[in-house]
Amino acid sequence: MYNEIDLDIIEINSEPPTEEPFRQYYFMAKCRRWVKDFEQKNGRLPKSFVLNMGCQMNARDSEKLAGILEQAGFLEALDEHADFVIYNTCTVRENANLKVYGHLGLLKHEKKSNPHMRIALCGCMMQEPEVVEKLKKSYRFVDLIFGTHNIFKFAELLAATLESREQVVDIWDGTDEIVEDLPVERKYPFKSGVNIMFGCNNFCSYCIVPYVRGRERSRRPEDILREIETLAEDGVSEVMLLGQNVNSYGKTLQEPVSFGELLRRVEQVEGIKRIRFMTSHPKDLSEELIQVMKESKKICRHLHLPLQSGSTRILKAMNRKYTKEQYLELAERIRREIPGISLTTDIIVGFPGETEEDFLETLDVVKKVQYDNAYTFIYSKRTGTPAAAMENQVPEAEVKSRFDRLLALVQENARAQTARFADSVQEVLIEEVNEHDSSLLTGRMSNNLLVHFPGDTSLIGSIRKVRLEVCKGFYYMGTLLENAPQESKTPSRL
Ligand code: 5AD
Ligand code: SF4
Repeated sequence: MYNEIDLDIIEINSEPPTEEPFRQYYFMAKCRRWVKDFEQKNGRLPKSFVLNMGCQMNARDSEKLAGILEQAGFLEALDEHADFVIYNTCTVRENANLKVYGHLGLLKHEKKSNPHMRIALCGCMMQEPEVVEKLKKSYRFVDLIFGTHNIFKFAELLAATLESREQVVDIWDGTDEIVEDLPVERKYPFKSGVNIMFGCNNFCSYCIVPYVRGRERSRRPEDILREIETLAEDGVSEVMLLGQNVNSYGKTLQEPVSFGELLRRVEQVEGIKRIRFMTSHPKDLSEELIQVMKESKKICRHLHLPLQSGSTRILKAMNRKYTKEQYLELAERIRREIPGISLTTDIIVGFPGETEEDFLETLDVVKKVQYDNAYTFIYSKRTGTPAAAMENQVPEAEVKSRFDRLLALVQENARAQTARFADSVQEVLIEEVNEHDSSLLTGRMSNNLLVHFPGDTSLIGSIRKVRLEVCKGFYYMGTLLENAPQESKTPSRL
């Protein structure tokens, strides 16, 4: 819809509309006016920089921020040498917060050399009241602070910030509102994240996400499908459906729809060749989903299934609602039903009260499931979560030693799992020029593995066949099969 709205004919001297998304288009038009005035005064367009510091959900939100800045007329900067800098923050672990404060130190310095500069912070970390208090008190040079619930109001907040020199702070405790049809500036022309739900109701005892992202809300299937159809028309061939717990999609809708059913409908969208999703909670993974994946021609052969711990005792304390045995049974069933599927996971080490025996149970699950990859995290105490108040926090040295042992095992498995595809021919979506060697292209297989091979940049965005020749541990070097039929049209924008 947004490409149908002409911002230049919006009457910005009248009162703003109250209805969304029209209200935001009015403020985008206001920002565009500000940009034009800036250009006249300074002989150049202002530049903006959006830094995503979090997960895929944050990355998608960052694309929405970038879309609005682009509509307003800002040029995109490659780094913080810009007139408007916004950090989309994460707070899942303490380290994420420390990183933001580190960056702010540098930005303060940058702002001294650019009097036009405005600094904004948004995302999960801003939903923590102590953080906002600290920013208000000690980081007065930050111009705009807002959270996760009112990100749809970015255009309005941007307009307020550009027009005033006061610090603008707007944090909401929660919302039921889902505003559709705002502009998005995608990072890749050929693949895109698509939010299917927001928030989380699970309250795993270590996790801050339900507090900063609010209660679970699903988008209506017709809105999701309309977005995916528009993306397909625009050259997108791969979509990643995003939610904190996609397996409980649709339960809160007026007319409930299961995640399996949503996938079936997405599969029908012409032009979409690949479907991914993230993240699945094992407790809600249905038999229906396994069958839909099994029958699908488009759903990628990859499932991310966070384990968190292999000890039933710790899983209970984490409020995960499954046992070690249930998880193992599920993983085995998935491997049996969908042969060749790649399984990946998240594991936390050092949850309060974790003993050596508990940790050995985790190692046992890792050995049994043989993950293709695992993201391993040291437990981080998050204020306000039930786990933060638990006794028996595990000593740091012990946690570090367990973490190293887990990582060694995970890497050994990942190497072995990667090697099983050697000499096969795989369809890959060619995503980009290799970062280290510009004569090579990088493609992603259905199972999420990467392969690098010589090829021409005109192939970026297409799906091609590649022979996997040399296994390099966690990725492959390969050769493009030149004569393979082209499976996907190259987006016209490339
Ligand atoms: N400490 C460490 N890791 C955490 N995660 C979530 N909360 C914490 C925490 N407090 C991890 C979980 C989750 C992933 C996104 O981050 O493994 O699946
Ligand atoms: Fe956090 Fe658990 Fe929700 Fe995932 S499912 S976001 S780990 S509370």
